[in-house]
Amino acid sequence: MRIAVMGAMVEEVDPFLSVGEHEPLLEYFKKHDDEVYAGNTYHLAKYKDLEIVLAYSKIGKVFSALTAATMLEHFGCEMLLFTGVAGAVDPELKIGDLIAATQLCQHDLDITAFGHPHGYVPEGKVYIEPDRRLLHIAKEVAEEKGIDLKGGVIATGDQFIADPERKAWIAQTFDADAIEMEGAAVAVVCDAMNVPFFVLRAISDAADMEATFDFDEFLKHSAKVSSSFIIAMLEKINNGWKISN
Ligand code: ADE
Repeated sequence: MRIAVMGAMVEEVDPFLSVGEHEPLLEYFKKHDDEVYAGNTYHLAKYKDLEIVLAYSKIGKVFSALTAATMLEHFGCEMLLFTGVAGAVDPELKIGDLIAATQLCQHDLDITAFGHPHGYVPEGKVYIEPDRRLLHIAKEVAEEKGIDLKGGVIATGDQFIADPERKAWIAQTFDADAIEMEGAAVAVVCDAMNVPFFVLRAISDAADMEATFDFDEFLKHSAKVSSSFIIAMLEKINNGWKISN
């Protein structure tokens, strides 16, 4: 089985690539090739019996949709796991906490001028749901590792939110628990192509006045919290995905 593992920023997938002074997570992935396609580098690797295609897209909805579509269409991935960081909207989410998206929406998609709800365009849907089986695997990993994994609505938009008012508006309009800049775009692509996907985020900031400072401070640590969890999920997928399907 071929699985896409992606993040938006190099820091978000770096834990998988780093060698030397960092934790050598590369030991998990045996890389055999790199391919440059449409402006990004795709690392082809193996994790046990699984074939992995690893890449970061660059920030935002358009770049992440391009990367997700490339991973599915060009590289033939049959599943996509997204790893990275997010701003907390739910006040219970603290820096370093993990949230798995149970629904994703685009908070900046707005044709309300034509009477449509926020986040909606004709023939689209406001919320897209990740694969239930992958959410179940995540729950199992969390239970086994004693991790308090939250599930919730992740709102995506082409904006870094560092503004309590905008954050409150997103919380109220979409019942959002966390904010980031790629998840819903990847969800749209996978949903359209009927490929199971999962979006995991570790909190790097609270999308408030301190958000830019916190983001810089906690990006690497939170990215690693998220990527370590993804490795544990890959372990389970390697052991059981074929059986449970
Ligand atoms: N990713 C991490 N923190 C974020 C924030 N505050 N806004 C948008 N995306 C983010």
